[in-house]
Parts: sequence; structure tokens; C-alpha cells
Amino acid sequence: MKYPLACDTWDDREVEAIQKVIKSGRYTMGPYVKQFEEQFASHFNCENAVMVNSGSSANLLILATLAEKYKLRGNIIVPAVSWSTTYFPLHQYDFTLNFVDIDKHTLNIDPNKIESAINAMTCAIFAVNLLGNSCKYKELKEIAERNGLMLIEDNCESLGSITDTQENAGTVGQFGSFSFFFSHHIQTMEGGMIACKSNDDADFIRSMRAHGWCRDLPDDNKIYKKSGNKFKDSFTFIAPGYSVRPLEMSGAIGSVQLEKWPGMREKRVENAKYFKEMFSNLPVTTQKEIGNSSWFGFSILLEDRLAGHRDIVIQSLESQGVESRPIVAGNFMKNPVIKYLNILSQNDYDNADYIHENGFFIGNDIRDLKENIDLVHETIKSVHDQI
Ligand SMILES: Cc1ncc(COP(=O)(O)O)c(C=O)c1O
Repeated sequence: MKYPLACDTWDDREVEAIQKVIKSGRYTMGPYVKQFEEQFASHFNCENAVMVNSGSSANLLILATLAEKYKLRGNIIVPAVSWSTTYFPLHQYDFTLNFVDIDKHTLNIDPNKIESAINAMTCAIFAVNLLGNSCKYKELKEIAERNGLMLIEDNCESLGSITDTQENAGTVGQFGSFSFFFSHHIQTMEGGMIACKSNDDADFIRSMRAHGWCRDLPDDNKIYKKSGNKFKDSFTFIAPGYSVRPLEMSGAIGSVQLEKWPGMREKRVENAKYFKEMFSNLPVTTQKEIGNSSWFGFSILLEDRLAGHRDIVIQSLESQGVESRPIVAGNFMKNPVIKYLNILSQNDYDNADYIHENGFFIGNDIRDLKENIDLVHETIKSVHDQI
């Protein structure tokens, strides 16, 4: 592929980090993961950061904490457009998915449509920051507060994004998830993180991450009083957990990637500026930035004459070596898996439906993409001129 969705951002430093772990002889979660968690919390100015083996696991443990520790029940407001594993942990913990349409321009949940969807059984808002762009948190925070709802974030696509409240996306809500999978902003092979405000929640998540045991909790934690007997405490189980620990190598790589992140962010933003400029003269809608986006990729919604011609556009791009994807899962309710889930439908998903039929995204990464963006522009323009 001439213009793939993502590129490798490793150099010798990540390889050295892996070698350090091999030399240490400890491959399972240990001091390098802890170091990365501390650096992450300090970089993104959040009280706690707990690393797991994927962004999906981060979402799972957040929902597990809502259900098991907070005893929340009922329905949770979710945007109609997101990734599958935003939604599945809700199903796994018996929450109803209360779908709200997105804003066609930001691609994130439309705050104006949330309050009419809230009912007596609504317990939380799960905001998703799509493709590097944060939700409108000024409004979301007010709505959550006014209605007594917990606000949580799926920030797996938006590490490094700054919100309209001048916070780091993923640290606004009580919990926020991050993904370090290959195509994401920082890459640790597989990997994820949970940012959370409360120390007790972080300790609960630390237990849920590793079999539900109390072993990883600090001695002065507030959620379980350890016996002080190392033998007993090593196999004492306090929460109905999982085994979703990250590898030690992923922690070591994460520290290197985080150091490189500010430079990598700049490159992404430079590409985005060029993309926005180039596409302002075609009948397409590109993503409207809220705060400062970290530009995961570039979304394109086909409008006017181009609307309804996505197949031709995608085929033409593919023949030019340009990789593209649907805008995450489109209107998620149109996926066959929906038959397994309990949902609340608001019967108003015009924007999610529009992007389901007319939207796609292309990649952004840390290389200079001007030539590739030109190629995409030329290709779409030539389809436009032919139809
Ligand atoms: C919005 C969103 N949430 C969650 C995930 C899951 O992250 P992971 O692939 O690390 O499990 C993704 C993955 O792309 C995502 O886009």
C-alpha cells in the first residue's frame, strides 16, 4: 500500500527497551509497567493510570468497576457510532445501551440529543472521543452533573487530544480508556490504559486486572486490609476479576513512545492542516475539531453529487494504493451483533445513518503525508468529475 492506515513508529530505542526487559529476565508485568504508568499519569495530568493488555480490556474493567464497585444498574448513554468493544462490556455487565445520535461534523455524541434520552434508569454517559477529536465536554459535564450521571470516556482513539475544557481527553470523566494498538497514537504492540480520578478505584482495577487478587495493592490501600502475612496475601481474592495484565515489554516500549509523543503529535497536526486545506474545495465534510485534535485519521463524508458513490470512491482509492476504513462501526445498531444486546432506541439516527452510507476515513501518521493527501484529493476529484 502506498498510503496505509498506519505506520511503524519504532526505532532503535524501542528495540533497546525490549532488550532491557529480556536481560532483566522478568517478562511479566513488573517495574517497567509501573514506570510507564507513573510517566503516563504525570504526562496527562491524571491522578492514576493503570495499564492493561488492550483498550478493550480497559473498557471492560471500567464497566466492571461501575457494576461491581459502584453497583450501578440500568442504561448507559452511548453514541450511535463507535467501536464494538466500547459497547460489549455494557452487555457483559447487563447494562442497556441507550443509543444517542452523533453530530455529523464532530462525529461525536450530540449533546443536544442526550437529555431527551435520559430516563429514570439512566446511570452514566459513556462518551467516545472519535478519531482524535474530543467530545464537547463543557456541555457533557453539565448534563452529567444536572442529571446525577457518572461520566466515563472511551479515549482509545484520542490520546493527546485537548478538550474544550482544556483538559487531556480521557481524564475528564471519572474513568477514561486508552489503546496502544499498532494503528493508534502510541504503539506498544498490544496495550491499553485506564486513567481514573480515585485512588480506591485504581486499586479496585489493579485487583480486577490480575485475577481479583489483593497482591498488587499497596499496603495502605483503602479497599482491603491485607493480613500482613505474605503467604496468605499472595493468594487472597477480593474482586471478581480477569487476567488482562500487560506484558513487561509493552510497559518498557510505552515509556519510550511517550517520550517521543510530543514530536509525533506535531507531525500529525501538520498533516491535518494540509488535509483540511486541500479538502475545503470538494463537496465533502471533514471532521470539525473541538479543542485540539490529535488527528487519529482523516474522515471524509461524501456530500452532494458524491453522496451515494462511496463504493466507487473506495475502489478508486484502493487501486491507487490508498487504504481506507468505515468510520469505525458506522451506525452500530446496523451491525448483526445487535441482536445479542439490550438496547434503547431513540429512533433518531440521521447522522449515524449518513456516515454509515457515505463516510470513511484514511490514515494519519508521523510521516509527511502531503503527497499521499494530494493523491487522495486527485482521486476523489476525478470520481466527482466523472459522475
Ligand atoms: C473507540 C475504540 N474503543 C476501543 C478500542 C479497542 O482498543 P484495542 O484494540 O486496544 O482493544 C478501539 C480500537 O480501535 C477503539 O477504536
